[in-house]
Amino acid sequence: MRIGTPLSPSATRVMLLGAGELGKEVIISLQRLGVEVIAVDRYANAPGHQVAHRAHVIDMTDGAALRALVAQEGPHLIVPEIEAIATDALVSIEAEGVARVVPTARAAHVTMNRERIRTLAAQECGLPTSPYAFASSLQELEAAVAGGIGLPAFVKPVMSSSGKGQSRVTTMAELNGAWAQAMEAGRVKQPRVIVEGQIDFDYEITLLTIRHAGGTDFCAPIGHVQVAGDYVESWQPHAMPEAALAVAQDYARKITDALGGWGIFGVELFVKGDEVWFSEVSPRPHDTGLVTLASQVQSEFDLHARAILGLPVDTRLTGSAASAVIYGGVEAEGVLFEGLDEALTVRGTDVRLFGKPQAFAKRRMGVALARAADVTAARDAAKAAAARVRVVPPGQR
Ligand SMILES: Nc1ncnc2c1ncn2[C@@H]1O[C@H](COP(=O)(O)OP(=O)(O)O)[C@@H](O)[C@H]1O
Ligand SMILES: [Mg+2]
Repeated sequence: MRIGTPLSPSATRVMLLGAGELGKEVIISLQRLGVEVIAVDRYANAPGHQVAHRAHVIDMTDGAALRALVAQEGPHLIVPEIEAIATDALVSIEAEGVARVVPTARAAHVTMNRERIRTLAAQECGLPTSPYAFASSLQELEAAVAGGIGLPAFVKPVMSSSGKGQSRVTTMAELNGAWAQAMEAGRVKQPRVIVEGQIDFDYEITLLTIRHAGGTDFCAPIGHVQVAGDYVESWQPHAMPEAALAVAQDYARKITDALGGWGIFGVELFVKGDEVWFSEVSPRPHDTGLVTLASQVQSEFDLHARAILGLPVDTRLTGSAASAVIYGGVEAEGVLFEGLDEALTVRGTDVRLFGKPQAFAKRRMGVALARAADVTAARDAAKAAAARVRVVPPGQR
């Protein structure tokens, strides 16, 4: 394994497709290893653009634009950070040997569509999941719910992420609105949803699973709270029975083996007693894994950077920690963050501001991190710190 010198002919070049807050941290981890990094996003001055050697703005769902940029930059590795990418182009780029896609082009292709990944997990890997069906019209959706999925149910566009277009319905009458919402938010204009019966879990976890040159390793389970399909709080480790953890690791190994390649995966699982259900998987760092910036020897971003380069990894915890999201709360460009000084007086805390050029009410603008003796204290501290950060439109000084 060799790494070259950045900005020289020997450089080891990595292209990030998506340069949000997770990509930004991966880039920083790669930069520390002397890798030359090219950050790509759909808008200018994205968080990762600000820390990369070069930045590009393209529509990553445009296969021709993607291929042209890859030809221009000649990356050795392509690292998808988001789902909304022309994954067919990635499949051909990988097949032609132009670049290696992380973890594999197929993994990116399969996981960007809930139908493909659910079918792989439930039918090919035999993992237990919620009851599910796919529907291409309101009529099919109603028939699926009435015909066995039952209520409450979750309706999600097959192509969407971070809770977009997703709804939880408790009555048949709500299906109409759920269908309309899914159609509005779906990434491609293809009328297709997955409808899932609700799993009555005790808690849900993200099991960060890392496939690397030396095999497969697991991080300690991460607990999290989701509101409207978006993560607001996470903590690590999440205490769970040994038997359930063994099952969770078994499922995580099976699905990540099926996807293949090197890198970190965020395996989302529901747990009730010793029973575990597979929910979904990201073949990349996971938002709930931001907590690992405070809880592990190597964060999920360090782990991803090392694994994709073929380097050894260390998944050990340093202690209990938690993260709490700082939302925009306002819709404005060039916002100001106030109260950081007050936030950081909360013992054991740290704050990351992502530097996004534009704030929205529900846009994640930063995260508060906290280390403490146990996860309860860490969660309290992270939430207290996050609450002290105020996002202010630039006019209101
Ligand atoms: N079938 C289900 N049963 C119970 N809760 C669910 C189910 N599907 C989704 N959820 C809840 O909604 C959250 C977001 O759903 P998920 O499928 O992970 O969407 P996304 O891809 O947007 O993260 C989950 O983390 C869980 O809290
Ligand atoms: Mg999810």
